[in-house]
Amino acid sequence: MSWIKVCKTSEVPENSLKKIWAAGGVPILVAHYKGGFRALPPVCPHMEEPLEESGVIAGCVMTCTKHLWAWDLKTLEMQGETEKPLKTYETKIEGDDLMAFVEQELLYEFDDEDDMDDDSFFNC
Ligand code: FES
Repeated sequence: MSWIKVCKTSEVPENSLKKIWAAGGVPILVAHYKGGFRALPPVCPHMEEPLEESGVIAGCVMTCTKHLWAWDLKTLEMQGETEKPLKTYETKIEGDDLMAFVEQELLYEFDDEDDMDDDSFFNC
């Protein structure tokens, strides 16, 4: 694959996230943070939560509200107790279009150690 159009930049307001099925059937989460866009796999790297629902953006920081893992979307630095980095597609803006470079779908690996449910998390 190569550069593909993901969406119009106006489709994703600042401080919001939107899941889009890009060309080739690749699901991409568009994150519009203060000053830029990121194109991401649509799930949290912690426990596969759909970030379109569990993610919130404030300024440059995206937080997954499920267990509060967070990342600076500008620098991609992990915040606080976050243990896994985000994967990202390279992006560029052409006119009004947000483009992403997609060679292959980016996926996270999940292991059994992360298989705790909400109850065990809050009882720790
Ligand atoms: S699933 Fe996102 S922080 Fe746990």
